[in-house]
Amino acid sequence: MIISIPKECIDGETRVAATPETVKKFVAAGMEVRIEHNAGENAGYTDAEYKDSGAIICEAPAELYNNADIILKINAPQEQELPFIKREAIVLANFQALADKAKLSIYAKAGLTCFALDLMPRISRAQSMDILSSQSNLAGYAAVLEAFNTLNKAAPLMMTAAGTVPPAKVLVLGAGVAGLQAIATAKRLGAQVFASDVRPAVKEQVESLGAKFVEVDSNESFETIGGYAKETSEEYKRKQAQAVAEQLTKTDVAITTALIPGKKAPILITKKMLAAMPKGAVIIDMAAASGGNVEGSINAQTVELGGVKIIGNSNLAAKLPASASALFARNIYNFLAPMMDKKGRINFNFDDELVAGTCAVRNGEVLK
Ligand code: NAI
Repeated sequence: MIISIPKECIDGETRVAATPETVKKFVAAGMEVRIEHNAGENAGYTDAEYKDSGAIICEAPAELYNNADIILKINAPQEQELPFIKREAIVLANFQALADKAKLSIYAKAGLTCFALDLMPRISRAQSMDILSSQSNLAGYAAVLEAFNTLNKAAPLMMTAAGTVPPAKVLVLGAGVAGLQAIATAKRLGAQVFASDVRPAVKEQVESLGAKFVEVDSNESFETIGGYAKETSEEYKRKQAQAVAEQLTKTDVAITTALIPGKKAPILITKKMLAAMPKGAVIIDMAAASGGNVEGSINAQTVELGGVKIIGNSNLAAKLPASASALFARNIYNFLAPMMDKKGRINFNFDDELVAGTCAVRNGEVLK
């Protein structure tokens, strides 16, 4: 089989879906691997390294895609890429399938089979294939660094001859994969960290990282059987807003990560709350692409409201492209490896929970 890896063409995308390490493994399994010239440039992987791993470097898209059976991508194919991809090709990428369901019909019309890696079931066997976790983890770390690069204060408590600098106060809203890494990173920098989430199980995880849990006075649980959050009740929203508003008056850095799968992100910080925050505070809204957790935030932009800088960025993993690509590429390899034979073929078993769970389009038919 022929595997092709294009250079990502979305603005601000720095990652690449295969690294010299994973290319080497595909080649060892008997596959022909083609990669677009400079596909790994922004992530620090050179054409020479890919060539040494056994890949063929392609200058022109026609050469890259010609008869390719499998296309590995970070983001779903864009309009300009589709004409090059043959019907019946298999594409693996983050299709954002829950948010972008309508787009799946475009890929169906092109006759493709698409594995939306973002739909990977969250079961133990799939942990090493989970792109949402690997990328969120790095994004949570990057969010804290971005915030403190922008903040006009130091993170840790410093007792100096010239006097004491108090620790910065950080509030993390949504303590899933990204939020927990943000908490751990902010703690390592020496900040005082607070966090909140609607899933009761999270309290213990937050506290085990040394952060304080911001309680909302409620007995309701908003956790699905799958472990995700669901939309909260009006009463909970009101109580949560009160608790968050109070905490924000003494917050230097807020990191918001709250998402509800398939739905618009909940607004957790309103313009009124922003106005009561310390001037110069910084918010990183990681949910910006899903509508945002902060009223007025815009994805891929920094806006200033009420003296607070709000950085909307839902692609923070792209700030660490070498690490993010390495993990993304391994996630893809780990998914494909169990189905690879020694003759350079991948035999997809559509009865398998992971294959069925991620297959969003099959031979031109939308399945999700
Ligand atoms: P996510 O990215 O969908 O959401 C981020 C966080 O926002 C979640 O913790 C969610 O509870 C929280 N949230 C949603 N609405 C909120 C609101 N109104 N106020 C405050 N917080 C709100 O979640 P993520 O990080 O993808 O993980 C969710 C769950 O999946 C976790 O339980 C995690 O442990 C589990 N998981 C399981 C894996 C596995 O077993 N393979 C791998 C990764 C995650």
